[in-house]
Amino acid sequence: MDIKGKVVIVTGASSGIGEATAREFGREGAKIVLAARRVDKLQSLAMDINSMGNGAETFVVQADLSKLEDIQMLVAQTLEKFGRIDVLVNNAGFGRLDWLENLDPIKDIQAQIDVNVMGVIQTTRQVLPVMIKQRAGSIINMCSMAGLIGTPTYTIYAASKHAVHGFSEALRREVKPWGIDVSLIYPGGVVTEFNQHAGIKRKTNASTPKFMLLTAEQVGSAVVKLVRRPRRMWIIPWLWSVTAFMNKFIPGFVDYTTITRFTIPEREDELNVK
Ligand SMILES: NC(=O)c1ccc[n+]([C@@H]2O[C@H](COP(=O)([O-])OP(=O)(O)OC[C@H]3O[C@@H](n4cnc5c(N)ncnc54)[C@H](OP(=O)(O)O)[C@@H]3O)[C@@H](O)[C@H]2O)c1
Repeated sequence: MDIKGKVVIVTGASSGIGEATAREFGREGAKIVLAARRVDKLQSLAMDINSMGNGAETFVVQADLSKLEDIQMLVAQTLEKFGRIDVLVNNAGFGRLDWLENLDPIKDIQAQIDVNVMGVIQTTRQVLPVMIKQRAGSIINMCSMAGLIGTPTYTIYAASKHAVHGFSEALRREVKPWGIDVSLIYPGGVVTEFNQHAGIKRKTNASTPKFMLLTAEQVGSAVVKLVRRPRRMWIIPWLWSVTAFMNKFIPGFVDYTTITRFTIPEREDELNVK
C-alpha cells in the first residue's frame, strides 16, 4: 500500500510509541489523526509533522479512549475532515503494575480495562463500517509480550493484552473478506513514559535487559511496515519469541523460574512479616 495521502488514526499519539508512529506516518506523507487526552502535546506534534513539507497533514482530536462518546466523536470528526479511514492504529494504553491486592479497583483495574480493552474494541467497532464500505483498511493493534506471557504484578495489564490478542485474532477472521487486514504487534520493553504511569512503588530487580530494550521509533517504524505487509503477529525483538515458546510448551519451568527468581525475592519482606 502506498501510504502517501492515506488517512491514518493513531490513538495515544501524545507520547512514546504513538508519537513515534505518527511521525513515521508523517514521513510517508499520510493524513494523520492524532488522538489522546493531552491536546497540547498533540498540537506540538502536529506542527512538527505539518512542517515536514512532504504533503503530510494532521488533525488533532482530544479524546479519552475510555469514553464511548469521545470515540464516536473521534471517528465522526475524522470522516468530516478526510472522508475516509484507511488505517487505524489502536495504540493508547497503560499499565498499573503491582500485586493484585494493592491495585485500586477503579483507578488501576477498571481504568486499565476501559482503555486497553474497551478502547480498542469500541474504536474498532466505530471504524469498521467505514472500512467495510471502502472494502479496504488496515487495523494494527498494539499488544505486548504481556499479551502472550503473564508475569507477576502484571495481572490486569496481562489480562488486558491477552484480551487484545483474542479480540484481534477473531476479528482478523471476520473482516478479511472485506479487504481489511488486522495485524498484531508484540513489543518487549520500550523506552517511553510507560513506567512513569505504572505506579511502581517497590524497588525491583526485575527489568528488561538493556540489549533487549527498544526505542519508540523502532516500534513506530514496525507499525508502518505492517500497513505494507500485514502480519498475524510480530514479536519484537525476535528473541522474545524464545520466551513465548517456552511459556507455551514448558509452562512448569517458566512458573518455577518466575516464582523463585522474581516473586519470592520481591515479596521477601512481606513473607518474613507474615
Ligand atoms: N513501553 C513499553 O514497554 C510497551 C511495551 C509493549 C507494549 N506497549 C504498549 O504501547 C502502547 C503505548 O504505550 P507507550 O509505551 O508509548 O507509553 P506512553 O508513552 O505512556 O503512551 C501512552 C499513550 O496512551 C495514551 N492514553 C493513555 N490513556 C488514555 C486515555 N484514557 N485516552 C486516550 N489516550 C490515552 C496517552 O495519552 P494521554 O495521556 O495524552 O491521553 C499516551 O499517548 C500501550 O498500549 C502499551 O501498553 C508498551
